[in-house]
Amino acid sequence: MAKIKTLRSASDKSISHRAAMLSSIAKHEIIIRNYLFAEDTVNTIRALENLGVNIEIRNSDIIVNPVGKYSFKEPQDILDMGNSGTGIRLLSGLLSGFEFLSILKGDDSLKSRPMMRIIEPLSKMGAKIMYRQGGYAPLVIYGKSNLNGIRYESKIASAQVKSAILFAGLYSDGDVCVKEPIKSRNHTENMFRYLGIDIEENNTEVCLGKNREIYGDCEINVPADISSSAFFVILSILSDDVEIVLKDVCLNETRSGILHILSQCGANYEIDNKRVENNELVGDLIVKHTKELKPFVIDKDILPSLIDEIPILSILGIFCDGVSIIKDASELRKKESDRIKAICSNLSAVGVKTEEFEDGFKIYGKPNHTIRKTKINTYNDHRIAMSFTVLSAAKGVDLALSENQSIKTSYPGFFDHLNYIIS
Ligand code: S3P
Repeated sequence: MAKIKTLRSASDKSISHRAAMLSSIAKHEIIIRNYLFAEDTVNTIRALENLGVNIEIRNSDIIVNPVGKYSFKEPQDILDMGNSGTGIRLLSGLLSGFEFLSILKGDDSLKSRPMMRIIEPLSKMGAKIMYRQGGYAPLVIYGKSNLNGIRYESKIASAQVKSAILFAGLYSDGDVCVKEPIKSRNHTENMFRYLGIDIEENNTEVCLGKNREIYGDCEINVPADISSSAFFVILSILSDDVEIVLKDVCLNETRSGILHILSQCGANYEIDNKRVENNELVGDLIVKHTKELKPFVIDKDILPSLIDEIPILSILGIFCDGVSIIKDASELRKKESDRIKAICSNLSAVGVKTEEFEDGFKIYGKPNHTIRKTKINTYNDHRIAMSFTVLSAAKGVDLALSENQSIKTSYPGFFDHLNYIIS
């Protein structure tokens, strides 16, 4: 009989970034419970401290003593956002409202990720932004205290673009609206509403309302990250000797596309204890081994709601009975690594047939696929490293990783959790 293990995976990265940044411009203290202490979100804390915010760490919580909406101080040094696209893009939104100089830099991966997508709208709002040729970080920002309004129609479904504009919109009296082709994750909208900022959501368009001040004097509880929980969801489906209960997972509809794919595959899972916490849907996921898995299709409509889960869903695809297809996904080439290339090259290395396109790939799955022992190139991408570690653990095949330090950017406790599950 399968053993039952219970786990609360790492806290949500998207919600942690937003909670820390928005608490910093509130009028009164905000306590953030279960903050994610990973490299990306600790870099956000450091950047906010460099802007004059006092942040106290107490066990798994942080207490933000805000400086008020207009009180960031010019940073004395360059703000290092490390590996984090969310960190640099969202903070650029806030800094666009301040008339001082800030410079934001990142690691080699972040330096190669496109920034024009935020530079263009933030510049239209009145911020002066300098950047490396082609639109790459470091970014040099000199903001404007009363930014212009904007009605922005984004070509891509990106919560980072939408949030950068909405964060900047807090420093504007004008109309601020963002429309996207497909709705991206709406944590910013949920948190704005929770903190008392007026915001209207109309299908794929969001507009700021009149109140753009945060009072504070409240708590935000960060749930477990569905993107981190996903590694153990797939481990449980693929291993025949463990059933996993994943506690307090954020099940926000704009994030939980993976559940629709699990249903498409016929995977064995249940949701329990559903509730709403600070405007986010939260629940426990109970996942069991599934013998027969159907192949899946991921297209543009579902993509934004599972964009970070493609690496681990590709591991699931290996064992589906047929060809799984991921299409309309060129954004994957602009993540922490070129994920289409990273996934396809590593799947080939372990002996799985794939077909790569510019905007997606096919995985030729087989229920009893044998996995070749080899070395995995993680491309310094945390999600590639964790996905192939799950494959190795589920099938008992030794797969050496080129590195595993990248995992600390989002899930420092990953190996401890894995050891607990497989012990
Ligand atoms: C995020 C949005 C997504 C996602 C990233 C986190 C966020 O990026 O891939 O890991 O917190 O807003 P895009 O907005 O570039 O799609």
